[in-house]
Amino acid sequence: MDFPVTRMRRLRRTAAMRSLVRETHLRPSSLIYPLFICPGEGVRKPISSMPGVFNLSLDEAMKEAAECVRLGIGGLLLFGLPSEKDEEGTGAWHEDGIVQQSLRAIKRDRSLDSLTLIADTCLCEYTSHGHCGVVQTDGDHFHVDNDLSLHLLAKTAASQAAAGADIIAPSDMMDGRVAAMRSAMDAAGKQDIPIMSYAAKFASAFYGPFREAADSAPQFGDRRGYQMDGANVREAMREIELDIREGADMLLMKPAGPYLDILRAARDRFELPLGAYQVSGEYAMLHAAFERGWLEPERAMLESLLSIRRAGADFIVTYFAKEAAKLVG
Ligand code: PBG
Repeated sequence: MDFPVTRMRRLRRTAAMRSLVRETHLRPSSLIYPLFICPGEGVRKPISSMPGVFNLSLDEAMKEAAECVRLGIGGLLLFGLPSEKDEEGTGAWHEDGIVQQSLRAIKRDRSLDSLTLIADTCLCEYTSHGHCGVVQTDGDHFHVDNDLSLHLLAKTAASQAAAGADIIAPSDMMDGRVAAMRSAMDAAGKQDIPIMSYAAKFASAFYGPFREAADSAPQFGDRRGYQMDGANVREAMREIELDIREGADMLLMKPAGPYLDILRAARDRFELPLGAYQVSGEYAMLHAAFERGWLEPERAMLESLLSIRRAGADFIVTYFAKEAAKLVG
């Protein structure tokens, strides 16, 4: 019989050999951990569909931040739960808004300097209707007004940058928001703060648990009038191109796992640093299987993250950041 000349198994023989030829790696410094910050003190409110994730008051959030530093995690993505909401979402750009206060407090603590602070810039956590922009109603119909929203989003970005955000991350999906935010930030003297645009953000069922965590479910209608249709790859490339032209410095794709093809296409086509957001539903889905003993937690978690890196992400926003950092750090 003929023997195989090439034997792929030779390089799989030992753990050391496998490690030597491994093409993709996970590092704690390329993981970003989301925090949901709420008013009060000593608050650590569990989110039922996201085991291990909490609404945290600022004092508790500071403890989480310190743990992230110990684990070598690259950054935090901050979401705020304001004490009051209104039609316009004024809490988003308030000088003493929940995210602005948190940014200042974390920046003041020099032991947390190794964390890059990213502010999610959107209005949905702050509006009483839960939409990401200004809602206009006409009888039974409603629509989110793009250009009126731009003004408020730009104010929000400038105020987050003024409070100490290292990166501004618009997640609203209004047209023209990157340019609007860039010019508001420049006018406020924050020309050195980069914009990481959620350039391709799909209207996804996988955001469900987040809306419990951030109390941001739309009170009527859905987000399909501004977030992308999950069927479209070419449109995602146009979204990215536009954001780059408007001045985006980095890109974020979301969700991650169900949209790995988008990530790959973006990686092949654009040179900007590229991140992916493994969203709440991806986390919840894996946890549900872990709880039933249907999947091995550590292996399945790391495999889900590695796939995202392999598809082209330089960094990953994930609720698994702490657990993953413990394993790969
Ligand atoms: C704000 C925002 C959302 C997420 C991140 N930023 C919710 C949404 O668009 O409905 C979802 C993140 C997640 O599911 O983990 N617009």
